[in-house]
Amino acid sequence: MTIGRRIIRLDETTSTNDEAKRHAKNGEAEGLVVVAKRQTEGRGRLGREWVSPQGGLYVSVLLRPDLDPKQLTAFTVYSAVPVARAIESITGLKTELKWPNDIQVDGRKVAGLLVEGTGQQGKVDFVVLGIGINVNIESKELGVDGATSLGEVLGREIDQDDLFAAVLLELKSYNEQLMKGKYPEDEYVARSSVLGHQIEAKVGRETFRGKALYLAPDGALVIKSDEGLVLRLSWVNDTSIRVTDPTESNDYPTKD
Ligand code: BTN
Repeated sequence: MTIGRRIIRLDETTSTNDEAKRHAKNGEAEGLVVVAKRQTEGRGRLGREWVSPQGGLYVSVLLRPDLDPKQLTAFTVYSAVPVARAIESITGLKTELKWPNDIQVDGRKVAGLLVEGTGQQGKVDFVVLGIGINVNIESKELGVDGATSLGEVLGREIDQDDLFAAVLLELKSYNEQLMKGKYPEDEYVARSSVLGHQIEAKVGRETFRGKALYLAPDGALVIKSDEGLVLRLSWVNDTSIRVTDPTESNDYPTKD
């Protein structure tokens, strides 16, 4: 299977995830990539809008991995690594990963991932990995607190085609490793802006404060709450976190 064996390029769509899901439901084989110049109904996690004007990269990849739906949290979390690698290779910028799947530069969000899929009886049917990267967009056009674009940070335009090609290349090697059961754990940890830090986590209506200890094998973020309880944040679609001590050094502890 090759990611990008078929690429659908659109000037505009509601959401590339919707487009890829429509094809998935019609029996499309894995490897389909949908890329659009603009989205009119781009969406992110937690039901948020993903502002998608011209100048951003909006990509969805259809995969049919041999995974249990329970493994989708890990799949989602680690998928940020190949995207971060692609951004770094094209821009030379240093990226940071904010659990579960934000990609940041200098503490500001430049990209996000949204994984959607279906599965039953312990088997994923399909997964659509949606990737949004703020490439050549002014942050005032985004109008999102804490967000910026790669072009704005670099002070120059970035070639969207080069970045798109790099994303596909990195996703291919990520997917190949995934098929062998290997996740890029060390690379994730090295880029994490969360592990070892004090955080505030909102899970549905509840708020927890504590220290982010480590990433569990299933992709859950394990924290030690200020009350001394060890908690697993695993329901990524309903959870958002905020680092509350960003300046302290990142003393990431080992699992044992
Ligand atoms: C997030 O940070 O909350 C995730 C954002 C994901 C945005 C991408 S853009 C391509 C794909 N289509 C969508 O509607 N969303 C994803």
